[in-house]
Amino acid sequence: MKSVYVTRNLPGPALEALAEKCKVTLHNKPAPPSKSELLKNAAGKDAILCMLSDRIDREVIDAAGPALKIISSYSTGFEHIDVAEATKRGIYVTYTADILAEATADLTFALILACARNIVQGDRMVRQGKWQVGWTPDLLLGQQVHGATLGIIGLGRIGSAVARRAKGFRMKVLYYSRNKKEQELAEYVGLDDLLARSDFVSIHASMNGGSRHLIDREKLCRMRSTAFLINTARGAIVNERDLVIALKKGEIAGAGLDVFEKEPLPPSSPLTRMKNVVLLPHIGSASRQTRHRMAEVAVNCVLDALAGRRPDPYFLVNPQVR
Ligand code: DGY
Repeated sequence: MKSVYVTRNLPGPALEALAEKCKVTLHNKPAPPSKSELLKNAAGKDAILCMLSDRIDREVIDAAGPALKIISSYSTGFEHIDVAEATKRGIYVTYTADILAEATADLTFALILACARNIVQGDRMVRQGKWQVGWTPDLLLGQQVHGATLGIIGLGRIGSAVARRAKGFRMKVLYYSRNKKEQELAEYVGLDDLLARSDFVSIHASMNGGSRHLIDREKLCRMRSTAFLINTARGAIVNERDLVIALKKGEIAGAGLDVFEKEPLPPSSPLTRMKNVVLLPHIGSASRQTRHRMAEVAVNCVLDALAGRRPDPYFLVNPQVR
């Protein structure tokens, strides 16, 4: 029987299907495995089914040894895997591609609305008994989303799903990405132009060398003082220290963040004490339907590879592997 190391319990029935066909070593704890646990449990396995929080580097691939056929990631990002090393050794790397695009776009809009319309403050006010005089003409006045300008950084699958939602809100949609695309969802503009014109700037770029700290002090200064920054992509695309300064100085109106440079966000982070931010624990794709489907895809890729079949090319990060 083939052996698979699965680095976290997965929601839905997919893991049971895997366990019927393979010997599964499951890291059944909420926190990720430590490096030494990863090295120990990867040893001799035919497959690793990992999460975005597990660094699958050369050392782990070495520890797994020559039996390793596939690294299947339960994520759309794959920057935690040494893809070049895996490819060199003929190991498939798979990911869950655009399966989470709609769920993440939903959450992006939840953050846009929460920031613009003071949803979190309102909820706290009611619960804490601070809503004392009933309806008031100027209570928690926010920013109108309908008809506002949305600037999308990175018009991939998630960025496009956000743009489609924005059309329903009759928003003007601008986008910036490294490559201009033939499409009708959004108007292409330069990054500085996008930052200067948008009421909401939403990040949907992927994490790579070029996108690290793409939004820094200089870029934040280009945003309107009434604008909100939304990030459901990767924390490191924004220089968090610079963001804190911009928020403190009122250089931007607020931020809605689902991702952080360090996760979990340390409770000591100044962001946790700011009123003009909405903070979420990296739950962009966390709808039951999406997470079940992600598990199904990650498991199917493993089963295919271990049965000697090529995983579905749609989910294959390194199609060079034959
Ligand atoms: C991913 O898969 O890369 C998301 O950030 C988490 O679902």
